[in-house]
Amino acid sequence: MDGVKSSRGVADIENPSSRHLSQETVEMLIRRSQEAKEKAYCPYSNFRVGAALLTLDNSVFTGCNVENACYNLGVCAERNALSKAVSEGYRSFKAIAVGSDLSDQFISPCGGCRQFMREFGSKWEVYLSKADGSYRMMTVDELLPVSFGPEDLTMKKLSDIPAEY
Ligand code: THU
Repeated sequence: MDGVKSSRGVADIENPSSRHLSQETVEMLIRRSQEAKEKAYCPYSNFRVGAALLTLDNSVFTGCNVENACYNLGVCAERNALSKAVSEGYRSFKAIAVGSDLSDQFISPCGGCRQFMREFGSKWEVYLSKADGSYRMMTVDELLPVSFGPEDLTMKKLSDIPAEY
């Protein structure tokens, strides 16, 4: 299945074997996330983050955090990578790797980025890494259990919602 043109925009990958990434691919993604981290614009936090996103057809999109003097406008690396991919027509993803300078801890995506990932399915993989390249994998569903997603908007609702809504 090539999900690039998926009309629903949801990345449920039917065949579990197609989800399995080789060790080589995981290491490549982590390395790409670390390279993306080098581009981070983070003068306020000094906390560099990079992300590398693998699409269903094996394209890679990277992103870094981009902060702003108006602090609340800053963008996280994961959301940056996802927005780049979506704006190029990609909506189905196998995995995203996240890298930072944390040496003793796996970088953990913020709640907003978890929800942003979940928009495109809950079964794909997130590689949380340390600066030395070691990693742990969690699915989007594990990072954001009992989540709200696009499907929920089409679930059965009360039929008598006032018209002004
Ligand atoms: N940040 C990310 O880019 N991704 C994460 O998963 C966690 C946090 C950024 C946001 C901000 O620029 C800096 O790290 C400190 O919070």
